[in-house]
Amino acid sequence: MHVLHVVGARPNFMKLAPVVRALAGRSSVRQTIVHSGQHYDAEMSAVFFEDLELPRPDVNLEVGSGSHAEQTAAVMLRLEPVLRDGRPDIVLVYGDVNSTLAGALVAAKLQIPVGHVEAGLRSFDRTMPEELNRRLTDDAADLLFTPSRDADENLAREGIPASRVYFVGNVMIDTLVRLLPRAEPPAEVDGLERYAFVTLHRPSNVDDPATLQRVLDALDEVGRELPVLFAVHPRTRRRLEAIGDRNRDNGMRLFPPLPYRQCLALQRAAAVVITDSGGMQEETTFLGVPCLTLRDNTERPITVTEGTNIVVGRRPERLPEAVRAVLQAPPRPARVPELWDGHAGERIADALEAWWSSIA
Ligand code: UD1
Repeated sequence: MHVLHVVGARPNFMKLAPVVRALAGRSSVRQTIVHSGQHYDAEMSAVFFEDLELPRPDVNLEVGSGSHAEQTAAVMLRLEPVLRDGRPDIVLVYGDVNSTLAGALVAAKLQIPVGHVEAGLRSFDRTMPEELNRRLTDDAADLLFTPSRDADENLAREGIPASRVYFVGNVMIDTLVRLLPRAEPPAEVDGLERYAFVTLHRPSNVDDPATLQRVLDALDEVGRELPVLFAVHPRTRRRLEAIGDRNRDNGMRLFPPLPYRQCLALQRAAAVVITDSGGMQEETTFLGVPCLTLRDNTERPITVTEGTNIVVGRRPERLPEAVRAVLQAPPRPARVPELWDGHAGERIADALEAWWSSIA
């Protein structure tokens, strides 16, 4: 079975790694990794391949940045000949980024079966590009690998036959479980004991200068309570530069995007995480660390109902009070969701082999 993986953006790589590892152990499987080039800075891409011990991509489509249409279309145009020539038996796509949708569409139209890893998540907020990517990818997919039961329910509601849906658990957590023993914070904050760890990159939080300013003001206030460590995504960095750097005296420390194991170490030891990332809502739930999500909704409701996540809404003014409340509350006993156990990649490999022998 020739499995071709399409990935492109940072959160894809943590999901790709366990599937590649699990399939590498199967003698009947050959793998090709196609990187779209959606993320191209070393610190957004190459560093992760190293940290996650992934083989280098076989193909890089080098599409780079652009509007949604430009980026999605560029991946489609450049991927089509790769799939036509390589004729994989199945194309696997991951998560909800533009490269995910582009990969699924091209493969489906070439009548190559598509597997979607992290299928079925829904925020029900169609203003988020990721929500459109998820729904359309799931529609195009033949095998849908879900991380949680709520995802199965979403797919059932949309009329996707249960025979295509495989509840396998959370691949992101496979990577966490494997690399947690080797997680190490950046040297300059090693030993720091009580801090808030921040990442923000959603257009809804960072693109509008006035909104970004409100976020910074709120973080300034949090900074009076405890040190704030902020790992800054390139999109956010550009926006920060655009509104001008300010003279901070409150101990907010800015970092570049962090390699996976450093990010994990900073989450594990944080008093609180403030984020708009999807993956970090899951990672903090597994680690039992309080997470404040600066969004109006989440496609990962299990992190709220079972985990440590609180959806604060897009009201940065609420952050200081939310931080205080979390710091004063007794820690909640961590409940790890079903099948977030480090073996989702193996279950995907099992499902793929069973599917392959059923059609061969
Ligand atoms: C993308 C995903 C988002 C995911 C995020 C994780 C989509 C629609 N969005 O958002 O779901 O949470 O990745 O990081 O696919 N840039 C660089 N260097 C890079 C990559 C990007 O400087 O290596 C800058 C460019 O200015 C670019 C901007 O970041 O225009 C946005 O990059 P893009 O891939 O379009 O979206 P993200 O915001 O990263």
